[in-house]
Amino acid sequence: MKRVIFALTALALLISCSVAPQLSKEEQEAYDFADNLIKKMTLREKIGQLQQFKTRNATVTGPDGVKRDAEAYTRNGEVGSFLSVKTTDELNRLQKIAVEESRLGIPLIFGYDIIHGCRTIFPENLGMSCSWDIEAVEQYARIAAEEAAAFGYHWTFSPMCDISADPRWGRVSEGAGEDPYLGAKIAAAMVRGYQGDNLSSDKTIAACVKHFAAYGAPQAGRDYHTVDMSEVMFRNRYLPPYKAAVKAGAVTVMSSFNDFMGVPASGNRWLIHTLLREELGFNGFVVSDWAAVHEMIAHGTAADGKDAAMQGMLAHLNMDMAHGDYITYGEELVKEGKVSERTINELCREVLAVKYRLGLFDNPFKYGCHNHDEVMYRPENLQVAREVAAKSMVLLSNNGVLPLAENTKIALIGPLADAPRDQIGAWPGFGEADHSVTIRKGLEERFGAKNVLYAKGSDLRAAINGGIEEAVRAARKADVVVLSIGLGYKESGEATSLTEITVPEAQQALLDALKKTGKKVVVLLGTGRAMDLRNEIEKADAVLVTWHGGTMEGPAVADLLSGDKNPSGHLTMSFPYCVGQAPIHYNMKNTGRPRKSPTNNEKYSSRYMYTPNEPLFPFGYGLSYTEFEYSDLQVLTPEVELGGVVKVGVKVKNVGKRDGEDVAQLYVRDLVAETTRPMRELKGFERLSLKAGEEKVVEFEIPTSDLAYCHRDLTTSTDAGDFLVWVGADSNATLEGKFTIK
Ligand code: NOJ
Repeated sequence: MKRVIFALTALALLISCSVAPQLSKEEQEAYDFADNLIKKMTLREKIGQLQQFKTRNATVTGPDGVKRDAEAYTRNGEVGSFLSVKTTDELNRLQKIAVEESRLGIPLIFGYDIIHGCRTIFPENLGMSCSWDIEAVEQYARIAAEEAAAFGYHWTFSPMCDISADPRWGRVSEGAGEDPYLGAKIAAAMVRGYQGDNLSSDKTIAACVKHFAAYGAPQAGRDYHTVDMSEVMFRNRYLPPYKAAVKAGAVTVMSSFNDFMGVPASGNRWLIHTLLREELGFNGFVVSDWAAVHEMIAHGTAADGKDAAMQGMLAHLNMDMAHGDYITYGEELVKEGKVSERTINELCREVLAVKYRLGLFDNPFKYGCHNHDEVMYRPENLQVAREVAAKSMVLLSNNGVLPLAENTKIALIGPLADAPRDQIGAWPGFGEADHSVTIRKGLEERFGAKNVLYAKGSDLRAAINGGIEEAVRAARKADVVVLSIGLGYKESGEATSLTEITVPEAQQALLDALKKTGKKVVVLLGTGRAMDLRNEIEKADAVLVTWHGGTMEGPAVADLLSGDKNPSGHLTMSFPYCVGQAPIHYNMKNTGRPRKSPTNNEKYSSRYMYTPNEPLFPFGYGLSYTEFEYSDLQVLTPEVELGGVVKVGVKVKNVGKRDGEDVAQLYVRDLVAETTRPMRELKGFERLSLKAGEEKVVEFEIPTSDLAYCHRDLTTSTDAGDFLVWVGADSNATLEGKFTIK
């Protein structure tokens, strides 16, 4: 133990402002300001800036820590930030104490989980990613930032950049699915949207890249569970979205709950210093996840809170969220020489610099001080939310029942049909259920109230007395049944891991009873995760995944069911055949014993005995009311120099009778590489809008640098050699070409 303490003390001395990051003029100015201020601060005040607390009546998003006197901590300069404060008045009240009553008047920074909307709630993030519409995602983030800033918030804990392919893990709802390339584009767009071009504007807020790192790969899909993988795998599959978000200028990062290569992320210096700062060039500050510093004790890598605080500080973790080990033990650690004051200064200046860049030293009240009612739920923003919700929904099957004709009499049934709270999903910011326009309301407005016969039918997980009978009566009187089923908001997001991902039995019983009426049944699936839908696909005439679609889910559903809009969402997470396949993703490797075909049953091949290897619906999949034909794939650059650009053209024609939108997707495979590589990787996509009968030539340009991967020696570069390329409307695209990098 002595040796360990000696080594850590030596490390404490070594850790200082030694790494000279590349700073922009604006960053330099912020650091200079911070350095000057630090000279006036006591050690306790500096440590105070590294502490984040919740207030007594704040929204709780983790095991509740010690109850603390927020006012006293603020007055004494012993806290730098609060999270999850519930009202603008409370935010302003605390800020006033910080600015007017603390010795140096240093403003607080307020953070909250504005992850898919503040008041105007957009679809949960997995749903939003299925729009494949990067501009729309950026627009979402701009709207969320403007509302949050008006509320009084400076900082959102978003984007969640965790790649995940495991539908058992409830937090897949917060991310952009299973693909690193698309995930990177979405993460960067969210940062641009939240932060804008000017962080100090009262319409923008700081972004927080989370959860660093690899939180999306917990063993067996159980939340907070161990994450263990090779660095090669991490760099190729998990790192790209975090990296893109940092590159887009995110000023904060959150360390994850999980351990990574055996070391909890919040005490993992390699992760949050060497990789994040030295390699990725991050210049902002890192906050731990909720009590994650203290949780190093439960992880078994810290003896007590003091040891945990020391490990966090030495790892270059700037801010301790929620628990309090930094402020409790920080001074002792410095006095005992276990953490140097230089380290504290460095941690503190990065926090102060972000506050400075947000403009908080100029005007600590500029956020949240105007009449926020004018900013919330603006009609034009509700319209954007409606459009994004419609673009996010994915049509999985349709035997012709959709779209519905005018004046169709609809039996609208199911626990999610009129569920204002469920539709705004997990962590809906400050979204209010009474502002939700439900599916029931949306259909009544579009088809006429007299044409919509509503019956709940069942609860999410339990039958209702007489519910099925009432639903069947409604169905008998209608032309078609629209059945809104799936999972509720409490079954999505943090701490909602499941081992069964089928629609709950009570709702399946409802589907069975309605099917027996002989009426056509359209299933609307509300969910925050991919599910096993074998039953619904077999029994329903159409299945539309509506996700938890946000404030405007109802009108968006009406837009699609009526055919006013054409479905155009494409899955960003494979929908497995069954839970036993999880985790499942399209970009798997071939193995040394690949199955020869989806039905080949040769014994010694990589397959399941009674289950297909393939998911029920692959990544990228999504139908429309029209049909798109892909043809004439041409590799315009069959041979490219390293450093050049691969060009691939393809014709896409709308061969149906309706205008529509599709997402053309380009996949590649590196045929012989230094390490094993995925069978396919997304390397380009384009959302296309085509009128009925219209044809367009799409040209993709892929810089060879986008084909780089992490090699055995952990360097990242592109190999020369042969590649296959496919273009189509999902990850099973069959139009194929070939190119060579020289
Ligand atoms: C815990 C969650 O993991 C994280 O995503 C969130 O931002 C914090 N709590 C704060 O609410």
